[in-house]
Amino acid sequence: MGDEEPSQAQLFSRGAQFVPQGIGGYDENWYPVCLSSEIGTGEVKGYDFLDGRVVVFRGASGTAQVLSPFCRHLGVDLSVGAVVGDELRCAYHHWRYDTAGVCVATGVGDPPPARARLFRFPTHESLGLIWAYNGEEPAYDVPHFGVDADRLSWSTIRSVEVPMDPFMLYSNALDFQHLISVHGARFNSIPESLPVDGRTIAYEQDMFMPGIGEARQSVRLWGTNGIVLSSTVMGRDTFMMSVGLAVAGPLTRTFNVTATWKDSGAPGDAQMVVHHLKMVEQFGLQLNREDDPVMRTVSPRIDNLTRSDRGIAAYFAFARDYPRNTAAADMIRNDYRIAATPKGQPPAVLTDVIFAEDETGHR
Ligand code: FES
Ligand SMILES: [Fe+2]
Repeated sequence: MGDEEPSQAQLFSRGAQFVPQGIGGYDENWYPVCLSSEIGTGEVKGYDFLDGRVVVFRGASGTAQVLSPFCRHLGVDLSVGAVVGDELRCAYHHWRYDTAGVCVATGVGDPPPARARLFRFPTHESLGLIWAYNGEEPAYDVPHFGVDADRLSWSTIRSVEVPMDPFMLYSNALDFQHLISVHGARFNSIPESLPVDGRTIAYEQDMFMPGIGEARQSVRLWGTNGIVLSSTVMGRDTFMMSVGLAVAGPLTRTFNVTATWKDSGAPGDAQMVVHHLKMVEQFGLQLNREDDPVMRTVSPRIDNLTRSDRGIAAYFAFARDYPRNTAAADMIRNDYRIAATPKGQPPAVLTDVIFAEDETGHR
C-alpha cells in the first residue's frame, strides 16, 4: 500500500464487492440435499435447493435420485406425488417419470410429449448424505475422505443454518487469523502455499486446538461449499467433513460428517468408537457455534487485507473465479410465485395454449 493519506471518499468507499450466489447462476458444486435417512425406499420429499426446489425419491431399486420438482404437465410439485416401483407419479393426473426424469406415461394413456422431462441432477449417495451436482456433468468427485468408506464408522448430522453464501463460511478454514482469535488455535506451522487442485485446495497444518489438542491436519476444501479434515485425535485417525447447501436468501444449510476406522473387534472398542465420534462431533458443532454470530452478520468485503490474510486472499480468488451454472435454473424455480411478488417481473404474455402435438410431437 502507498504512503499517501487516503481521501475522505477513498476512506469510506465500499471497495470491491463479491457477486452473490444466484447472479449468473450458482456455483457448480456437489451440494448435500438431505440426509440419506430422510428418504426411505418408496418415499419422495421436497427440499429447498439454490433459488428453487428439488425432489428426492428412492424407488424400489433403492437408488436415490434428485430431480427438478415441477411436473411438466401443469406444474404440480412432485413432492406431493407418490413413488410407484422405480417411478415418480404426479399427484394431479398421474403422469409418471423414470429415474432419468423422463415422463414415461400419462394417466389417461395419451402419449407423453417429448418435452415432458424433468432436470435430472447427477446424484450420489455417500457418508449418509444424498448429493446433487449443480450442472449436467460433474467436473469433480463428491467430497470424500480419500479412504475406503467401507472401513469407516461415521456419524452424519445437520448442523448450523447461516444466512450467508457457502463460500464465506468455508473461506474461514483458510482464515488463519480467525482460527487463533475465534477458536483459540495455536499454530506450529501454517501452509506455505495453497495449491489449487482442480476444484479443490489441499494443504497441511500443524496446530493446537482446544478440545482436541495437538494435531497435524490434512485439509482439503472442496468446491466453494465444503471442507474435509484428516488428523489423529486422541490417538485415533479421525476424519471430519462440513458441507453446505446453498439456498436463496442467502442461506447455507450445513451438514457435518465425523468418521474413524471401524472398531477392531477388541472388547470395548465398539463403545470407544461411538464415544470418539460423539466427542469429535461435539468439537465440530462447537466450531460451528463459535463462527455462527460472525457469519450471521457479515457484510463481506476485501479492501483491507493484510500480510497474514494470504490464505483467505487465495481462497477468495478461487471463489471469485469458480464456475457458476444455470442449466437447471428454469426448472427448479416457482416463477409464477416470483412473478406475483412486488419485485417480480411479469411473465411473457400467454398467447396460445400450446398442445404438444403441434410443437414438438410425441416421443
Ligand atoms: S400436473 Fe402432473 S400430471 Fe398433470
Ligand atoms: Fe471457523
